[in-house]
Amino acid sequence: MNLNEIIFPVREEIRTFNREFKTAIRSNVGIVDTIARYVLHQKGKKIRPILVLLSAEAGGGITPSTYHAATLVELLHTATLIHDDVVDGADTRRGIASISATWKNKVAVLMGDYLLSRGLLLSLFNDEFQFLKLSSIAVKRMSEGELLQIQKAKQLDMDEETYFRIISDKTASLISTCCELGATSATRDESIVLRMKAFGEYLGMAFQIRDDVLDYEGKTATLGKPIGSDIRERKVTLPLIYAFADAPKRTSRSILRLLKNGKAGSKISEVIEFAQNYGGIDRARKKAEEFASKARYELEEIPESEAKSSLLKLTEFVVERMS
Ligand code: IPE
Ligand code: IPE
Ligand code: MG
Ligand code: MG
Repeated sequence: MNLNEIIFPVREEIRTFNREFKTAIRSNVGIVDTIARYVLHQKGKKIRPILVLLSAEAGGGITPSTYHAATLVELLHTATLIHDDVVDGADTRRGIASISATWKNKVAVLMGDYLLSRGLLLSLFNDEFQFLKLSSIAVKRMSEGELLQIQKAKQLDMDEETYFRIISDKTASLISTCCELGATSATRDESIVLRMKAFGEYLGMAFQIRDDVLDYEGKTATLGKPIGSDIRERKVTLPLIYAFADAPKRTSRSILRLLKNGKAGSKISEVIEFAQNYGGIDRARKKAEEFASKARYELEEIPESEAKSSLLKLTEFVVERMS
């Protein structure tokens, strides 16, 4: 499933979004503007603004405030990625050097704060208090998810339930908010808004599981970020959780020891093979499919439209994507 085909019903609207995003991010402060240009030059997939536009279109029709919501979520997402790369010590993002690798952590932390504030101010200046409320809740949950993940990486005692909680907070919360904001900007029909919100939650779960699977079986060149990073960072994600559940105790213990001793970084291929051999990658892939089909189910009562078809295609895209 290809993204160009998916965005077709809103291709013109995406151009408008691109212009608004560019305006929203620019600054009179030299260093801020330099980094803003660097961000504009990166090639992100723009899944979140695409979701806002499609949810609005499918939920009743795009309005001027839909563009504010699209800009807001991409600003928050970009801020989060910049901070995430500081937290994860990641040198590459979107195929090029991360902001933290290029300008150092201090600058990256502040640039993330800048983008975050620009996003929230955008809603405030447009009197879109509902957007401000929903996006602030998402930001709160994203921070909680990232922090819980750090705690679990320290303790190395991950289980499936905690994993789902983490990815729901750190990823699905924003993706769900994209759909909720899109629908809110387009209709007063609360049942549509709630369905879109639930759709986004399941889609976001599938999206992050795919991200975690790609960390095991993706190609660094296509992915735009190195594979095996989660193993290096002691993040126990779904492929590993499932492999631990099915592997002999002794084998699991020796992999856990690798992670504990900080030796996993040099033995990434051993950990990947372990996850592969004990069916963890396959099982995680199936779980992503399950979430994608739950997402599709949420759209059943939404009236048919081209935009709705695109949302349905997106559920396939997120679980198949290679980048
Ligand atoms: C990356 O999100 C962070 C995760 C939630 C896994 P994307 O894969 O949407 O990042 P870009 O914007 O396309 O680079
Ligand atoms: C997703 O987590 C980042 C957030 C949702 C904040 P990851 O750490 O897995 O994202 P990548 O792999 O660096 O893009
Ligand atoms: Mg990361
Ligand atoms: Mg990842």
